[in-house]
Amino acid sequence: MSRRWRAERSKDHFHKMAKKLGFRSRAAFKLLEINKKFGILKRGYVVLDVGAYPGGWLQVASKIVGSTGLVIGIDLRPISKMSAPNVKTVIGDVCDESLHDKLASMISRKIDVILSDAAPKLTGVWSTDIARHSHIIYCILKLANKLLRKGGTAVIKAFQGEELNELLMDIRSLFGDVRLFKPKASRQRSREVYLICTSFHGGNDINRDAA
Ligand SMILES: C[S@@+](CC[C@H](N)C(=O)[O-])C[C@H]1O[C@@H](n2cnc3c(N)ncnc32)[C@H](O)[C@@H]1O
Repeated sequence: MSRRWRAERSKDHFHKMAKKLGFRSRAAFKLLEINKKFGILKRGYVVLDVGAYPGGWLQVASKIVGSTGLVIGIDLRPISKMSAPNVKTVIGDVCDESLHDKLASMISRKIDVILSDAAPKLTGVWSTDIARHSHIIYCILKLANKLLRKGGTAVIKAFQGEELNELLMDIRSLFGDVRLFKPKASRQRSREVYLICTSFHGGNDINRDAA
């Protein structure tokens, strides 16, 4: 049985499961797995989901934080309305600082958890794609410095490669602990990995980003 075949089979499995359970995307299973292992989401939490379209992570987070919590999803693409009253969505670019101000005006206290499954539109040129993706991550770190509470958590999609080391060094300067996790629902051949960043203490904005 080839690795590729196994990967495709598992893709089908999660895709079918998502449809069956009413999730907007198979990505929902990645967050469920992350939360099962690390217990990052809790009742009453304020959560920001960056790159939230079509809304699988929003569905998962909204259910866990419950009616006393709030989940805000942002994406470049409009997210079709969600029935859960504890979900708000905003169209925008996480690198647009006026969006950071808008988010600040939507919350009455700091954010407990920032989630990011955001990824740029891929060109297929690794160096370009990774530079664009790093740019998004540095924007998220900037946003965290403004809006994430001390002790808070971020879950950030990244890609494995030598560039990740520098990024990890920067992220580790802002969080007490950073772990790498690849959920089973991630495609086997994908280089994606999730950075589970806990015990946020903040720091200076990092200006390494050249994109
Ligand atoms: C893999 S999808 C997210 C899937 C989502 N987690 C779910 O559960 O349905 C990645 C999303 O990131 C968004 N994105 C990419 N760059 C962004 C940016 N700069 N700001 C906001 N969203 C962005 C894309 O539009 C895309 O919808």
